[in-house]
Amino acid sequence: MDENRKLYEIALLAKENAYAPYSGFKVGAAALTQDGIVYTGCNVENASYGATICAERTAIVKAVSEGKKNIVKMAIASDNMDPTYPCGICRQVISEFMPEGEIIVANGKNISIYKVSELMPYAFKLDK
Ligand code: THU
Repeated sequence: MDENRKLYEIALLAKENAYAPYSGFKVGAAALTQDGIVYTGCNVENASYGATICAERTAIVKAVSEGKKNIVKMAIASDNMDPTYPCGICRQVISEFMPEGEIIVANGKNISIYKVSELMPYAFKLDK
């Protein structure tokens, strides 16, 4: 199995931990760091809906909080047959920590790979 497929399979497993009683939409993410560590994430919802965190940001926050800021790839999985693409807020966070990275999604059996810069052109940057 190739690396991208493997990362997607890990995202599928991470989805099983999703806490999504409000939307019923479970998402899993798997972020690969430059030194080969995989951090997983799932969406964690809240009765106060705005407190929900997406799977992608869960994975990124886990990596960064463990001192791993160089993420090279992230796979995203849900129960949908169509690919699940990161939401707008996640695209901004993804751009912060993996601007040169790749996003892996799947449509049934077929994997698609996108550059982060393709999914989030002109990401906001704080130029002070
Ligand atoms: N969700 C994610 O986890 N990632 C995305 O990229 C899109 C949306 C979650 C948030 C919420 O728990 C549920 O999916 C429905 O929006």
